[in-house]
Amino acid sequence: MENFSFYAPTYFEFGRGAEAKTGELIRKFGGSKVLLHYGGGSIKNNGIYGKVIAALTAADVPFTELGGVVPNPRSGLVYEGIELVKKEGVDFILAVGGGSVIDSAKAIAAGAKYDGDFLDFYQGKAQIQDALPIGTVLTIAAAGSEGSPNSVITDEKNQIKKGAHSELLRPRFSVMNPEFTCSLPAYQTAAGATDIFIHVCERYFSNTKEVSVTDRLCEAVMKTILYETPRVLRDPDNYESRANIMWAGMIAHNNICGVGREQDWGSHHIEHELSAMYDVTHGAGLAVIAPAWMRYVLEKHPEKFVPFATEVWGVPLDTINPMETAMRGIERFEAFLKQIGMPSGFSEIGAKKADIPAMVDKLFAKKDTEGNYVKLTREDVTKIYESVADE
Ligand code: NZQ
Ligand code: ZN
Repeated sequence: MENFSFYAPTYFEFGRGAEAKTGELIRKFGGSKVLLHYGGGSIKNNGIYGKVIAALTAADVPFTELGGVVPNPRSGLVYEGIELVKKEGVDFILAVGGGSVIDSAKAIAAGAKYDGDFLDFYQGKAQIQDALPIGTVLTIAAAGSEGSPNSVITDEKNQIKKGAHSELLRPRFSVMNPEFTCSLPAYQTAAGATDIFIHVCERYFSNTKEVSVTDRLCEAVMKTILYETPRVLRDPDNYESRANIMWAGMIAHNNICGVGREQDWGSHHIEHELSAMYDVTHGAGLAVIAPAWMRYVLEKHPEKFVPFATEVWGVPLDTINPMETAMRGIERFEAFLKQIGMPSGFSEIGAKKADIPAMVDKLFAKKDTEGNYVKLTREDVTKIYESVADE
């Protein structure tokens, strides 16, 4: 195991009715004037907006609003948010939504305390030194941004989707009511579950030895997702299933599963080029890329694919031919993704083979290799894209 620091101080209020505490929590964490940030309207249709407003009003918390965050959140609205926060003297941002809304809130929080262009943080030109505190009311189990120090924003002018990272971006609190996720369309539920699963894979596929605690935690989260996702798709109002998936989403990405080990992140970075170019739902893009990454990487470095097959997918170990065992694991993963309605090729997500060189150029603009489990070159990533370019 490698040395690590881990400090993840987000306060979680989890369960039915948890949103009633939102106003109190803002007060507790020092907010006196709030920006209420949200997406394209789902919270107004499913009643979450009204519940949050009631909680703010009950705690006498003044607020101003900025809605309109789109999936794969854009820089344009972040600039608007930064101006609004400065003009209104906002000292706390409340994100009500999923990863896109939370990531947009994090970008505003950092940008409001910075004299330059907030995209500097996303382009590796500056480190975040200060940020407004944020809290979240989570409405979709997926990105894990409710407990993570990350934010991913699309620079819409240059069609570049990149992440920024700072411990200052971890939410002070996150309200997690699993009932709020019952209104999700099946596709979003499945894409979210896929994202959660891959967040764990990015950590599981590691060259670090002797990390059995985090290996076993990773396997537990993956098994939860593969048990609960078909169940919740059959029965969308199943509270227990929603609750397990929601907490899995947090555990998968606040890094408790990743400490002390090298992590990969190749599938995510390869996918981000797809969502930047075609506005693909992140989890659906991962459903296309991650199995392709696995098939490609298996040939070069099979080691971790054997426990992936036996411990997560229940494939019996073939001691004479462990490669066969490893391949069965990937096949079961692909069958699972198909079963929950996720895409498997470019044709299903509107991606074009002709754009592969452009995506590879962007991905390798500032680096020579991608990922860590196997360090992939431009040629490797090109082959991974080509293996799913079925249009
Ligand atoms: O905009 P509204 O109308 O709210 O609709 C949203 C959106 O269309 C809808 N939705 C959310 N909750 C709902 C609901 N619809 C009905 N009922 C509800 N309760 O779902 C759609 C997707 O929302 P979004 O926030 O985009 O989903 P997700 O949480 O998957 O976030 C995706 C973004 O997070 C980034 C992704 O790249 C992508 O941009 N990621 C962020 C990470 C992080 N900050 O740590 C890590 C991830 O790997 C990921 O990259
Ligand atoms: Zn993700």
